[in-house]
Amino acid sequence: MVFKTFNVGLVWAIAALINATNQQRPNIVLIIADDLGWDDVSFHGSAQVLTPNIDLLAYSGAALQRYYTHSQCSPSRAAMLTGKYAHRLGMQGHPIVVSEDRGIPLNEKLLPQYLKELGYATHLVGKWHVGHSREAYLPTSRGFDSHFGHRSGFIDYYEYIIEEKLSTGKVAGLDLYRNLTPAWDVEGYITDVYTHEALKLIKYRDKNKPFFLQLAHSAPHSANEGAPLQAPPELVRAMRHVELGERRLYAAMVKKLDDSVSQVVEALEQEEMLNNTVIVFISDNGGMTEGFTRNWASNWPLRGLKSSPFEGGIRAAGLIWFKDIHYADDPTWKGRMHSVDWLPTLLKAAGGGKVEGIDGVNLWDSILRGDSASRYEHVEIDDYTGYAAITLGKYKLITGRTVPAHSKCKYGDELRGVIGQPPSYETALENSVVYAVLKRTGKPLDVEWMMKKRLLLTIDCGDVPGNQSSCGTEEDKVSLFNIDEDPCERRDLSKILPEVVQQLHRRITEEWDKRVPRIVPMVRDPKSKPSLHNYTWTTWIDDTLSN
Ligand SMILES: *[C@@H]1O[C@H](CO)[C@@H](O)[C@H](O)[C@H]1NC(C)=O
Ligand SMILES: *[C@@H]1O[C@H](CO)[C@@H](O)[C@H](O)[C@H]1NC(C)=O
Ligand SMILES: *[C@@H]1O[C@H](CO)[C@@H](O)[C@H](O)[C@H]1NC(C)=O
Repeated sequence: MVFKTFNVGLVWAIAALINATNQQRPNIVLIIADDLGWDDVSFHGSAQVLTPNIDLLAYSGAALQRYYTHSQCSPSRAAMLTGKYAHRLGMQGHPIVVSEDRGIPLNEKLLPQYLKELGYATHLVGKWHVGHSREAYLPTSRGFDSHFGHRSGFIDYYEYIIEEKLSTGKVAGLDLYRNLTPAWDVEGYITDVYTHEALKLIKYRDKNKPFFLQLAHSAPHSANEGAPLQAPPELVRAMRHVELGERRLYAAMVKKLDDSVSQVVEALEQEEMLNNTVIVFISDNGGMTEGFTRNWASNWPLRGLKSSPFEGGIRAAGLIWFKDIHYADDPTWKGRMHSVDWLPTLLKAAGGGKVEGIDGVNLWDSILRGDSASRYEHVEIDDYTGYAAITLGKYKLITGRTVPAHSKCKYGDELRGVIGQPPSYETALENSVVYAVLKRTGKPLDVEWMMKKRLLLTIDCGDVPGNQSSCGTEEDKVSLFNIDEDPCERRDLSKILPEVVQQLHRRITEEWDKRVPRIVPMVRDPKSKPSLHNYTWTTWIDDTLSN
């Protein structure tokens, strides 16, 4: 995509003016799951983890089957909020740890700031994770009217604490806030807590303003190491068809997420907002089957995990639903999207102007029309770990030090075990809340037809070779894949197509040179220690002194 340079401020101001009297700006509800794997939604084919409510939004909206993200939380959220690749913000690589003084640079303008200019009420419920050491980094300083949720990477599902290993040993503190105040009063399972907060905001919204809600769940991210997976016991019991115990817990966590989506959709219906609300459901990045922040997610049959540039790390579950999206038989939007595209895409949906100087492109019109006009290239640069990847057209080049343990094929295979007959998917669809809601709106809903749609959305790479050597997991390797023909990245073509390697290498080098380098290793600030702050992870640096 080529950008022309305009007078950014002027174009924006005129566009804002033209639309100033338009009362019909759509509401936007952006739901983000945390570390949800590719195979952890049933619209991608899982017979084990059923997500009928989420699936129905995909079937009756647009399934973003080529939705790409950065490979980890902070980078991917920073890209969504700014429309810029994380490496241009110094946000690439390992996410912000809870004792770290880092955030999206303060001169960046974020999505909620743009939406506020268009008259939106802006709310964040749930995770932030793009800066919390100083008040100036917090959501309420950066365009959100309100924030209820956690500021760092994850929290315990019932106690809302996060642990950290400082040089002095392990410490822990509360990370749940109502704007600037620690939310000591809250009780309950965090997915429910966030859902109830979202429902309250929907119900008691200012009806004179269009409404923007970013609902960023903690689920199904792992919690602290002593109890990484947490779900209400009765729901875990309902997952007895799942072979492995951890995976049962995980399936129950995802079930809670699916229920949350259904409650939000139902609330939008009750408030008569469904005919004017854009609903997005995405994962921030791929699942973490093994290693640090392991949550037993599965990216099957894609290769690699969260924090790797392989498809399992960066090709994430995603969908967008809006009343004007009507795809006939195949719910797949054929284009390619990256996290950076949300900002221009949602602004276009909101009737806003064009933003210059960003990496994202507006895909709203293409998604509405259901054509394949989209981005041609996307990059994944992590100079903290030491790798870079570029996908240009059908080819993808990966170069540098990927972590072998995050890069293997066959991840997730051993998690797929189902005992006996899995629950009926058809019944789950028919009994779901979203099914009933859509039926009331008059959408045609034929379950057999949905089963066909599901097949179209399932990636089949055939039998994975039972042979890791063909997956080439050694470090410091250059690999080239044809992502269109080999989405599971099993055949390295770098030796066969050296001229393609050269071309992609030239392009990724240009991008690499644009980066704001990361400091290695990250700095964990002992002054953040919760025992110094009434056992909370509060802001510990006073901006008024340092800025
Ligand atoms: C949505 O439906 C409500 C209630 O039926 C109606 O008042 C409103 O004008 C509709 N909005 C749009 C954009 O169609
Ligand atoms: C494993 O893969 C390599 C590389 O593709 C191949 O040369 C080798 O024969 C395979 N081994 C087995 C046992 O299939
Ligand atoms: C300190 O923490 C306790 C909970 O442990 C809370 O009840 C109390 O209000 C907090 N004090 C202040 C000043 O925030």
